[in-house]
Order: sequence, then C-alpha cells, then structure tokens
Amino acid sequence: MPENVNLLIVDDQEELCEVLKDVFQDIGYQADAVQRGKEAVAKAEQTFFHVVLIDIILPDMSGIEVLKRVKEVSPQTEGIIITGNTSLKNSIDALSIGAFSYLIKPLDLDEVRAVIRNALEKQRVAMENLLLKRFNEDIVSYSPAGILVIDKDFNVMLVNEAYCEIFQITREDARGRPLKDVLPIDRFEEKLYRVQRSHKPLYGLELRYRCPGVGMKVLNASISEIPLSRVTGEEAGLLLVIQDLTEQNRLEKELFQSQKMAALGETAARVAHEIRNPLQQVLTGIQCFQKHSTVDEEERVALEGIVDGVGSINRIITDLLDYARPVELTCNKVDIHDVLDGVLFQVEEAFRNSNIQVSKHYEKNLQRIWADGFKIKHAFQNIVKNAMDAMPHGGNLTITTCLREKDEGRKSADILEVRFADTGCGIPEGETERIFQPFYTTRNKGIGLGLAITRNMINLHKGEILVESKVGEGTQMIVRLSIK
Ligand SMILES: Nc1ncnc2c1ncn2[C@@H]1O[C@H](COP(=O)(O)OP(=O)(O)OP(=O)(O)O)[C@@H](O)[C@H]1O
Ligand SMILES: [Mg+2]
Repeated sequence: MPENVNLLIVDDQEELCEVLKDVFQDIGYQADAVQRGKEAVAKAEQTFFHVVLIDIILPDMSGIEVLKRVKEVSPQTEGIIITGNTSLKNSIDALSIGAFSYLIKPLDLDEVRAVIRNALEKQRVAMENLLLKRFNEDIVSYSPAGILVIDKDFNVMLVNEAYCEIFQITREDARGRPLKDVLPIDRFEEKLYRVQRSHKPLYGLELRYRCPGVGMKVLNASISEIPLSRVTGEEAGLLLVIQDLTEQNRLEKELFQSQKMAALGETAARVAHEIRNPLQQVLTGIQCFQKHSTVDEEERVALEGIVDGVGSINRIITDLLDYARPVELTCNKVDIHDVLDGVLFQVEEAFRNSNIQVSKHYEKNLQRIWADGFKIKHAFQNIVKNAMDAMPHGGNLTITTCLREKDEGRKSADILEVRFADTGCGIPEGETERIFQPFYTTRNKGIGLGLAITRNMINLHKGEILVESKVGEGTQMIVRLSIK
C-alpha cells in the first residue's frame, strides 16, 4: 500500500462527503471532497489522487464525463463510480471508460473500504509493471551497444537507438523484417549458433554494410546473445547485443604501432650511432687517400663508388631515424608556395636531365599557414622525388594548390590542398594503400621509407595524404593540410 494515500470524493451531497472523509481519515488516508465535476478535474490537474470516488450525477456534468477527464490528466488514478440505482447501463458505461468498480447507494461502508483497498492494490501492481517496463525500455534505449530483439523465427521485434545509429536504419524499417535483412553479417545463422553454443560473445566480426549517403562501411564488432524465455519457459526469441569495436580496435592498433615505433626508434638510434662512427672513419680514410695518393682512372672511379656507397648507407640511416624516432613539430607561419619553390629549385637540374617539365597552378589568395616548414618540405621532397623516379624517360609534373571546405556548405575554406600530378608509370590498383607502408618499394635502390615518413609528417600536422593513380597514365598525390 502506498504510504500517503490521497483520495478525492466528488459528490454534491455534503453530508455523505463528510462521512466518507471521516471513514477514510480513520484508516489513515488523506481525503478531499468537492461538489462539482469541474472542481474535481481542476484538483486532479494539480494533485495526484490514488483513487477518486465520483457520484454519477453531478450538478455540472455526469460522473462518467468527470472520470474520463480525470483519466486524461492522470491515467494512473483509479476511479470508482457511485450510482443511485442499479441501472446496468450506468455500470457498464463506468467500467468501459476505465472505472475500477462502482458502488451503489446507500453505501455500505465496509464495502467502500474493501473496494478502495482493491483499487489501491491493482494500482500498485500496475505501477510496478509500468516502472519495470520503463526500466527495461530505458536499459534497451540508452544502452551504448546496438540491441536487436528477434522472435524464434528470426524476425526482428525491436532495435534500439544505438543499433539504428550504427546501421542507419529506423526502428519502423527494422520491425518485422527477417534478421538477415537488418543485420549485415555473412552466414549469420551459423555464427549465431556458435554464440549460442559457447555462451560467449563472438569477437572479431567484420560487418560490411551499405550506409545511405556514405557507401560501404566496415564495422569491427562483437556479438553476444541472450535467449528470451516466455513465462511458460518456452523459448521466445533472442536479444542480440552488437558492440562497435572499431574505435577500440583502432586505439589498440595505434598503441601497438606506437610501442613498435618506440622499440624501432631506440634500435635505429643505437644502430645509427654504431654504424656512423666507422663510416666516418672509412670516409676520412678515403678522403686522405684521394688527397695524398696518385690514383689511376680505374682506382678513382672505385674510390668514388665507395664514397657513394657510404653516402647511401648514411641516407638509409637518416631515413630510418626519420621514420622511427618520435618527431615533434616546430611550427611557424609558413608560405607553402615558398616551400614548394624551394623543393623544385633543388631538383631543377635533375629534372632537366630527366626531361621532366613542371607546371605550377598556385592559389592566388593563399595565406601563410601554421606548420613546421622543414618537415613539410621533407614530405614534399619525397613526393617530388617519387614522381621523378616514376618518369625515367621524362614527363610532366603539375603542382596545384587550392583552398577547400572540410564540410560542404561551410562558408570559409579550412583546408589547403596540394596536388602533385605526374605522368609516370602509375601504381597498380590494390597497391595504393601499401605504398605508405614502411619498406614497401618497387625500386631497385629504394628503401621504401619515403612515403611512410611523408605520411607521418602530414599526419603530425593533422592532415592527410591520398593517392589516385592509373597504370600507364600517372599518379596524383594529394596532400590536405588544415589552414586554421
Ligand atoms: N608517383 C609515383 N608513381 C608511381 N609509383 C609511386 C609513386 N610514388 C610512390 N610510388 C610507389 O610507392 C613505392 C614506395 O614509395 P616510397 O617513397 O615510400 O619508397 P621508395 O621511393 O621506393 O624508396 P625511398 O625510401 O628511397 O623513397 C615506390 O617504390 C613506388 O612503387
Ligand atoms: Mg621514395
């Protein structure tokens, strides 16, 4: 029984109201009384009454009408209609609009107490059910994991907000559809069977699905299932919990990568130190030899070969250090066109020898951007050098800069895009992602660190580097940097 029971008596017979109030107050209920229907509705709008007792005939409206209005403003309130006659119609009318019961005048006070007690008990159970229902609904609705409930025939009964968000589907669209139309998972029955058998979540699932307006998406997920049983114990369906692990996997990969890089950086630094000292000795020895000895042509070429070789080893060490050691940016206001011109100036002669023409299409309104000019130059040098390597028999390199909006519809540009388009050999389809991996190279003398370093430097600037390429036609490397 609720602690403070609030009752409202609606009857124009004042003496009856007083008698009832006394009876209720004696058993610990709070009771209020009004004579008119309108007053009763106004009170119900202000205060919650557990039960209202309403005379069927009131001066301003019928008791049935009053109960209807009270129920509108307070659906949980139980109503009891008091009638002066045993008319079956009145009783049926009262019950059909949701009255708990009806009492016939003259009132038997024991019966009144019993009916009120029963009404309160029914209300308690209904409230508990309602709370439990809301509680369940809240758990399902606000769960950050995607939840999907299916019946025993694998048809969808409901999906929650998170599920709709992940798979870009509406609750209405999902309801009633076969599971395979709503959960994009290959051989789902077999996988669910595995989950069912092991009673453990299934990790490492890759769900591929088409997202309207976005295209194909891949979700790294885990799936767990909870069998739903009916009260009879018979199986009623399944509740599937789909956890989006994409971000978690990304963070794990990032952590693993940074641990790997830290170890590699340490090793590279040690190796560099150990190798550079003897290399310096070799170089000094050769220089001494070149200076003080008379060498014939063949010996001269051989000595130059050694100096070249030492230079290459040194470059490999520098690249390895650049790739592996943690880099910090030293940012200033940088004119990207100056950086590009500086890179082109360095390769001018090599380009001339390789018969490579350069065209520049620079954005006119470009302001200086906040960046580490040295690192950006290094990144551009690698890209330009690759373009040169891709055009051994000559060709064109077109460099274009332009301003873009990150999100369409924005008024001001927030991205600077630099495109390097060459007419070289191109990159086979399917290889375009691999070219950024360390030590991937197709060149005899390449180490395969150029683009790995470049991507690191661009990523450090919170930018991105993309590639578009066609074998036999050429390659475009696209660098996007934030200008804010
Ligand atoms: N513009 C381009 N055209 C064609 N292939 C390219 C181009 N840029 C890069 N590649 C491909 O990507 C690979 C990796 O490039 P990356 O610069 O990382 O290494 P590399 O040039 O082989 O060696 P290095 O470490 O000396 O730069 C190249 O070997 C080449 O196959
Ligand atoms: Mg390279």
